[in-house]
Amino acid sequence: MNKITIIGNWKMNLRNSSSNNLINQIQTKLNNNDYHHANIIVCPSFIHLLPVKSELNIKIKLGCQDLFWENDGAYTGEISAPMVKDAGCKYAIIGHSERRMNLNESDNMINKKIIACFNNQITPIVCIGETIKQRKYNQTLKVLKNQILSAFKNISPNKFKNIYLAYEPIWAIGSNRPASPRDAKKAAIYIKNTVLKKYKALKNDFIKVLYGGSVNAQNIRSFTEIEEIDGVLVGGESISSSGFVKLINNSYK
Ligand code: PGA
Repeated sequence: MNKITIIGNWKMNLRNSSSNNLINQIQTKLNNNDYHHANIIVCPSFIHLLPVKSELNIKIKLGCQDLFWENDGAYTGEISAPMVKDAGCKYAIIGHSERRMNLNESDNMINKKIIACFNNQITPIVCIGETIKQRKYNQTLKVLKNQILSAFKNISPNKFKNIYLAYEPIWAIGSNRPASPRDAKKAAIYIKNTVLKKYKALKNDFIKVLYGGSVNAQNIRSFTEIEEIDGVLVGGESISSSGFVKLINNSYK
């Protein structure tokens, strides 16, 4: 059985002490439970990566919420892939819709960030998804296709490494209105097929598809029991230790 992946995106919510408390409480609660069916990844803010890393004592992995595409140079305020790697990150969320919308992050920037991840042995977790308006006009699959093709522009098959694609409909994020499992499954199948069509020689194993958007301890199972969905990206429920641990416990495929 393949392990499912559960990623907690802590966003810009915590402080130093609350980040440390959260990771410690998650670990204490998980220690009394069986969590070995899941790869668990937490993504604190950049500034909390090192403190959280120093608290880790079970198999939880570390990711960051973004990174810059150059390794070094005069880019005031930016943080590069080698820097987050130094801080213990093996994963990076790329192209979250909150960044696309609030910071005008473009497909071209996202493409360069994915290349930076591949060049630095970091697994990108690339977020894609449609707005409510695009959904109303039946454009979901077209939007996903465009986002995938521009994300992978100029990446040749031999450079392609492991990747997570998170299907996150924008209207489902933080809204308590998740996509239906049926729609999430349809999107997951479409996403995998679109990538495999572009990269014909690629093995299925390289591409993992996650669902994200209002996932909680109650609805997790309806997504993880779908064969084509390899895991979930969780925002709100990931910053409550009891909610997150319950979600992990309820996620058995
Ligand atoms: P949510 O956020 O779980 O709070 O909807 C998901 C995300 O933004 O990745």
